[in-house]
Amino acid sequence: MSDKATLEINGKKYEFPIVTGSENEVAIDIKNLRGDTGGVITIDPGYKNTGSCESAITFLDGEKGILRYRGYSIEELAEKADFLEVAYLLIFGELPTQDELNKFHSDIKKHAVVDDDVKKILDAFPKSAHPMGVLASLTSALTAFNPSSVNVDSEEEMYNAIVRILGKFPILVAWTMRKKHGMPLDYGSSSLGYVENILQMMFKRPDEDYTQNKILVNALDKLLILHADHEQNCSTSTVRITGSSHAGLFVSLSAGISALWGPLHGGANQAVLEMLEAIKEDGGDTKKYMAKAKDKDDPFRLMGFGHRVYKNFDPRAKIIKKAADEVLGDLGVEDPILDIAKGLEKEALEDSYFVDRKLYPNVDFYSGIIYRAMGIPTEMFTVMFALGRLPGWISQWREMRMRKEPIGRPRQLYTGETQRPFKEISKR
Ligand code: SDX
Repeated sequence: MSDKATLEINGKKYEFPIVTGSENEVAIDIKNLRGDTGGVITIDPGYKNTGSCESAITFLDGEKGILRYRGYSIEELAEKADFLEVAYLLIFGELPTQDELNKFHSDIKKHAVVDDDVKKILDAFPKSAHPMGVLASLTSALTAFNPSSVNVDSEEEMYNAIVRILGKFPILVAWTMRKKHGMPLDYGSSSLGYVENILQMMFKRPDEDYTQNKILVNALDKLLILHADHEQNCSTSTVRITGSSHAGLFVSLSAGISALWGPLHGGANQAVLEMLEAIKEDGGDTKKYMAKAKDKDDPFRLMGFGHRVYKNFDPRAKIIKKAADEVLGDLGVEDPILDIAKGLEKEALEDSYFVDRKLYPNVDFYSGIIYRAMGIPTEMFTVMFALGRLPGWISQWREMRMRKEPIGRPRQLYTGETQRPFKEISKR
């Protein structure tokens, strides 16, 4: 592979360096393009062909269906690690020793409280508020109660902000659900594991002791690992570009939560369940929905299908589909929605429209079925995605800040009106 790319514009040749990544991906470094060519830029709506950064955190190969966090395969991590270990790996780059993991968890527990005044903000929301809107607001509000989390120029300040948000975020997640259900807010217990405590904070009834269910703990642990990072997806790019202006970590995460909410992104897990419910109501008529998904005049898309990068099976979808069978079996839950999902997947994978466009089930297609079996309401599904993605967002934000990357500010190609004289209102 040559180490230079040559571009010819109006008969003049320009050379740009070719950079190769550790997995032999190749990029043309165009940082001097505009300067060298006297103003020529590239344009790439949706950044389908544009890399925003170099990163050492997550590698994915969309053609081969490969996903690795810091070099470890998602299959091994989902099987052998727990969520806090994976969070440490993503943020600091190595799997922790037992002592490192114990200290990390103990530092997080020190911050696993939220200022009681935050409850006043939560109280101000109507019960009808979508949990993602509540979560984005409360996460941003945390800055007011933790001002030191804004200027994180030193490793130590960065670490303190990270353990703070890892301690407080699960509380906000649990509180958004309990608010919806009219339940008193619960703090869980510092004697519990990270995921056990999340489940207790979400589900403990005020009149009963909460009994941990190993099946639920393992299922949630695995789902959070599978959602933990996914390189430069929409919400992660939002977190990075927000942080590139040196806005604080908490508000950058709040921006990411808002981006994740969209039904084309993390909001798809809720949209999948609503779609499957609609098909069930429709007597299981999957063919009608397949036709709608293929009809260019119909805005309907087969939610949970397709991916910007994966043009093969999303490796996470494979793991989640297997886990859905196991969890529902272990819980003794018979859910016709799972059968409809499997039927829809089979039909789509045999349909030329989907095959030709390489549209396969993605991470969102089966995850909601497990969340539902765990008793998590549909409107909370994307909040659970955000809970999983938190360490990924943190690791990407930290990498961007530690590398002192410049503020993100894309160019544009102007296609509007050229200069024209002002027109008096009487003449318009
Ligand atoms: C996530 O980026 C990440 O990594 C995201 C994520 C993460 O972990 O962060 O993996 C999480 O967001 C997963 C994706 C969840 N979204 C959905 O399930 C929503 C349904 N899927 C789509 O809307 C779509 O597939 C996207 C948004 C995911 C990807 O869209 P692209 O890459 O912009 O592809 P496209 O819209 O250009 O589609 C290419 C073709 C088009 O048809 P043609 O114009 O070529 O005829 O495929 C069609 C699209 O109409 N198409 C679909 C479809 N997805 C794409 N047609 C029907 N149903 C679909 N789901």
